[in-house]
Amino acid sequence: MVSYKIALIPGDGIGPEIIAEGQKVIDAASDICGFKINWVKYPFSADHYLETKELLPMDSLKEIERMDSIYLGALGDPRMKPGVLEKGILLALRFYFDQFVNLRPVKLLEGVECPLKNKKPKDIDFTVVRENTEDFYVGVGSHAKEGHSKETLEIKRSLYEVKFDLDIEADRDEVAYQIGILSRKGSERIIRYAFELAKKKNLSRVTSVDKANVLSDIYGFWREIFSEVSKDYPGIDTEYNFVDAITMWFIRKPEWYQMIVSPNMFGDIITDLGAMIQGGLGLAPGGNINPDGISMFEPIHGSAPKYKGMNSANPIATIWSGSMMLEELGEEKAARFVLKAIEEVLKEGKVRTRDLGGSSKTHEVGDAVVEKLKDM
Ligand code: IPM
Ligand code: MN
Repeated sequence: MVSYKIALIPGDGIGPEIIAEGQKVIDAASDICGFKINWVKYPFSADHYLETKELLPMDSLKEIERMDSIYLGALGDPRMKPGVLEKGILLALRFYFDQFVNLRPVKLLEGVECPLKNKKPKDIDFTVVRENTEDFYVGVGSHAKEGHSKETLEIKRSLYEVKFDLDIEADRDEVAYQIGILSRKGSERIIRYAFELAKKKNLSRVTSVDKANVLSDIYGFWREIFSEVSKDYPGIDTEYNFVDAITMWFIRKPEWYQMIVSPNMFGDIITDLGAMIQGGLGLAPGGNINPDGISMFEPIHGSAPKYKGMNSANPIATIWSGSMMLEELGEEKAARFVLKAIEEVLKEGKVRTRDLGGSSKTHEVGDAVVEKLKDM
């Protein structure tokens, strides 16, 4: 029997509760479709850090490197300074495994109420391909006190290494700065990924997101590369949207969009909005993908510490992310079954967590999805 080894990182807050449901559903799908998952659990989280001072040790990364995928709950905890877990665990994983694609489907499922008036599932069905390793996420920045100072900032990636030697003269005030980086190869590979996916899905339009009217060096470069890559896909229409405008169009005319490709930070922002128009954060899945390496699947929402341990969070985003993981592993049938089972539970409407107006518990949603799977 085919088997897969998956690193399981439940994380913080509601992470452990929702990931347990994802695991349950994936195990059920594997039984039905005839493969096996070997889960290897890792403790990386705020609790683990506070106990051991360890975030994400290199030997674990090396172990995970030999596995098939990573399944993650959520990270973030109010006891920690913002960014410590996010950068030290989540972004560290994305960067270490060079998961340059952040794949975020925005799809209103049957049975889910849309906050936009008169919009139906056929109107909200597009994919955001977010670049996941560059832009303002490279972590290159600092601040300089008044006067003269020097700073060396470096970024190391599998694609390249860049060093900035800064000589700073601030005459009257303290300044903070952050350097965003796009590379030609880094932009090209993500834009090409979006076009290839559009081709595979028979879509007719790819939209590029940027802010080239103001941040013209970095996003003018993005546009240039988008335009070059698009020439290889003559059958697909293209357009540029400014990031501010696209937030308006997501509300006014979401049915326009098919495939969107975006630099990292704007992709982060617009996919929270995307989550809302598909019915809420509890329903928005995501994958951090390295097509030739180790990918990682996680809901796009955070750890919701307020709801920790209450067994009330919606696990559907996580279960759906699990379906995306199955697809990436090549278990397409199982992936389809899981998504279908989610849709049936939602359409039936009997089992719903509080965010969807119901009173079901987290584990009841997982159980309901498993029941539907068993009928398939
Ligand atoms: C997301 C999150 C992360 C991001 C944070 C937690 C680092 O907001 O996955 O969208 O900005 O990518
Ligand atoms: Mn986000």
